[in-house]
Amino acid sequence: MAIEQKLITPAELRKQLLFGRDQIPDLEETVTVIEAINALKREKNAVVLGHWYMRDAVKLVADYLGDSLDLSRQARETTADIIVFAGVKFMAETAKILNPAKKVILPTLEAGCSLADSITGEDVRRLREAYPDAAVVTYVNTTAEVKAESDVCVTSANVKTIISKLPQRQILFIPDKYMGANLKAELPDKEIITYDGACILHETFTALDIPNIRKLMPGLRVLAHYECDPSIIAAADFHGGTNDMRKYIARETAAAKKSGEHLTFLMATECGLSSTIKNEYAQKGEDIEMVGPCNLCPYMKTVTLRNLRDSLRDEKPEILVPEHIRVKAYKALERMFELGEVRGDAK
Ligand code: 13P
Repeated sequence: MAIEQKLITPAELRKQLLFGRDQIPDLEETVTVIEAINALKREKNAVVLGHWYMRDAVKLVADYLGDSLDLSRQARETTADIIVFAGVKFMAETAKILNPAKKVILPTLEAGCSLADSITGEDVRRLREAYPDAAVVTYVNTTAEVKAESDVCVTSANVKTIISKLPQRQILFIPDKYMGANLKAELPDKEIITYDGACILHETFTALDIPNIRKLMPGLRVLAHYECDPSIIAAADFHGGTNDMRKYIARETAAAKKSGEHLTFLMATECGLSSTIKNEYAQKGEDIEMVGPCNLCPYMKTVTLRNLRDSLRDEKPEILVPEHIRVKAYKALERMFELGEVRGDAK
């Protein structure tokens, strides 16, 4: 599938940069960098796949923005020659596993993930020996080597659907302990064994006192990412993956417009998502109220316009996956697409 390159005009760029939450002290230089990226995209038949957690300015050069599931679908189908992943390393590796003929570039190798760092292929092999009857269900936020040792991969958007469809009762869910605990509560018919990984960003929301915030704010709607602590999920109005949260806000905002209710949203997830949603509404002339801490993923924020331009110009760092690992990881990802058809895990 051909993703249309998004090549917005310098005038539109200036407007959008001014709307963003990023501090842009050098507006004209930033516009020049974006124009250089756009020229390189055209010249090299490249697409930029961007995650919602990217900096506002980086999102302006993304030809497609999405959650990790959507981005992996796009990576699998793109006809471009080069994929630049404006995201973190496990996402770029997933793109390479799914579409190995393409050159996959990650703007910086600093763009890691605490969940992906928490478990190795050797750990999974050891766990399999300890739980021979369990299905090994692996969160997509893992290395290619870990995916290769798995029966099926999942993202926050399809995890519940996929585990429910598996014939095994015993599930070894790796590596996110919070998502694992949330699934235990939601899928009582399954025996879910968890691991000890955590997302360092979503873990910080554990301290939020949602019941008391609610008392102070009528019309509050709390949305939480599946990677949050179960206490936050239990207190939230909605939980799921990133795209599901966007859809929830669109639905609730439209309903509130009709009923006249005033809503305030608290998003227990990366601030890049809430700032994008706020900007999108602002550009339509609508105000959407968001409260809560602006927590940032330190890994996602290592991607900048400048290192993205340089990486596309130099075509490095290139993400490569050894073929014997790739073919095994591919099977676990394809099983995810096969089983994960129904989307959305709304509460
Ligand atoms: P999504 O699957 O919702 O995009 O989440 C990706 C991620 O890395 C969350 O920390």
